[in-house]
Amino acid sequence: MSTRFERLSLSPRLVDWSIFVLLALELGSGLVSLVTGRPGGWVVFVAHSIGGLCLVVLVFWKLKRVRKRVTRLAAWDRATPVSVLLAAVTLGALGSGIAWVLGGSLALGPWGLLNLHIGLGLVGVVVVAIHLRHRFRPPRTSDIEGRRTVLSYLALVGIGALAWRLQGTFNGLLKTAGADRRFTGSREEGSGAGNDFPVTSWVADDPDPIDVEAWELTVTGEVDRDLSVGYDGIAPGEGGEGGSEAGQEERNNGHLRATLDCTSGWYSVHDWRGVRVGNLLAEADVTENARWVSFRSVTGYRWSLPIEEARDALLATHVGDERLTHGHGAPLRLVAPGRRGFQWVKWVTEVEARERKDPGQWLAVFVSGFDGDGEG
Ligand code: HEM
Repeated sequence: MSTRFERLSLSPRLVDWSIFVLLALELGSGLVSLVTGRPGGWVVFVAHSIGGLCLVVLVFWKLKRVRKRVTRLAAWDRATPVSVLLAAVTLGALGSGIAWVLGGSLALGPWGLLNLHIGLGLVGVVVVAIHLRHRFRPPRTSDIEGRRTVLSYLALVGIGALAWRLQGTFNGLLKTAGADRRFTGSREEGSGAGNDFPVTSWVADDPDPIDVEAWELTVTGEVDRDLSVGYDGIAPGEGGEGGSEAGQEERNNGHLRATLDCTSGWYSVHDWRGVRVGNLLAEADVTENARWVSFRSVTGYRWSLPIEEARDALLATHVGDERLTHGHGAPLRLVAPGRRGFQWVKWVTEVEARERKDPGQWLAVFVSGFDGDGEG
């Protein structure tokens, strides 16, 4: 006598293709989540979570169907090891995501549970491709059984949404670490505590400490007057040489309260002090052709912002009342509200006004630190 749950199940081929589509959605929403930092982006994370929970049901149906073939070695063929690896990677991605939401944590050297989750999610792409090479079966319309299929999908989404809701209740009741997550899934760490918040770097972006005396910031590109300013000309309340008296006065009053939200799962709210990018651009007489502003680190790491957004951003020398430490990007880092941590460029030496967006920035953020740049 089949259970109500089993009566609602989909045909094997439809389960396989639904898993494929949901995996693609999970990967897509996961990648988009990495660059989503404004509160309006909450839907990306909720869709990712509910989609992931629906995937748990589908993977359960699939593994129930294939378990006999996998548990009996005699039934293995040369593609089975890849299928087993895919099951392990997928269950790992699902499990680590759910564990994170329920307040779990894991120390893996410089990485944590969410890094593991993202890593497994990315590895899964390769394993799925190899799996499909061996097990590809085209979808068939005959597998769609009208009302029953529609009801099954509705039930699936219903189960995912309900599980998502129940997690919130569970976290609230047990006051788990998952209860105070931001819409991005990140947890609060070290807000308002000066430099006392996690130091993380994207990939291998890790230069030697910078000699502040020898350091200078240049403003170039679509400007009528290139600027070159030393630390004293930038640091709030530490007036010194570099640029006009007025510019310096104007420059030294940057203050911004902003949330730094890292894709490895933590966020921190601080009062940042430094120089408003808009003041620097005005002092350099930015031209009308400028549409983007690229911020470049001593390591070659860089990111660009649309000029209107850049104007309101801050180049910070201080967090709270403290000078930035090296790990947090001293002497100067970008504070870009609404952007994720890896876009808050650290160890900034150059600001470039540009007509076009910088096409090479995605490569730069992945290779900086490997190319021998970064001598302080
Ligand atoms: C680039 C890849 C990925 C990124 C950046 C990513 C990011 C995230 C984040 C930030 C969360 C926590 C959300 C929160 O706390 O509310 C999460 C949860 C989750 N993710 Fe991913 N993910 C990725 C890939 C995947 C893949 C491929 C799968 C499916 C195999 C997946 C399944 C899940 C699940 C099941 C959860 C838990 C949902 C819940 O319990 O509410 N993710 N992911």
